[in-house]
Amino acid sequence: MSAQTGLDAQPRHTDAAFLPRPPRYIALQCLKVGEGFCPTILWPIQIRRLSRKRPPILFNSRWVSTAAGHSPMYCYVAEDGEDGLRIRFDPLSMRLLPSSYWELHDVEIMLDEYTNRVECIWKEGALLIINNWTCLHARGEGAVASPSRVLRRWAVGVI
Ligand SMILES: [Fe+2]
Repeated sequence: MSAQTGLDAQPRHTDAAFLPRPPRYIALQCLKVGEGFCPTILWPIQIRRLSRKRPPILFNSRWVSTAAGHSPMYCYVAEDGEDGLRIRFDPLSMRLLPSSYWELHDVEIMLDEYTNRVECIWKEGALLIINNWTCLHARGEGAVASPSRVLRRWAVGVI
């Protein structure tokens, strides 16, 4: 993601959305806070409400996921997996099929309907574990003013 965004704020995303089964958990640890303020933003999905309402735009819109070194893959934003409902979203590696009835903006609005935005403000040594299947995340603004900020990242539950 950072290879595409540089130090700018990132769009909310699932890590490794281009994999058939993205890692279940992402762990981030703050090694250095940096000079400025640069939070990680979380968008936990209201998963029970989503599984009850099942909006077609998230369950039926077809996407193609592409990433260097990986085969293109068709996918959906909301998918029923063997372990329950799973969200996959990354506007930098996923594109709606040209024949789609919906546009990216429509999907973003629907995601807003099923998420709350939470800011994670880092302290040195803090550890954040994100359920990558039910929570979108992104680096917020401020990385440019925090050149020494360092987060360590682990992907957990990769098959
Ligand atoms: Fe990420």
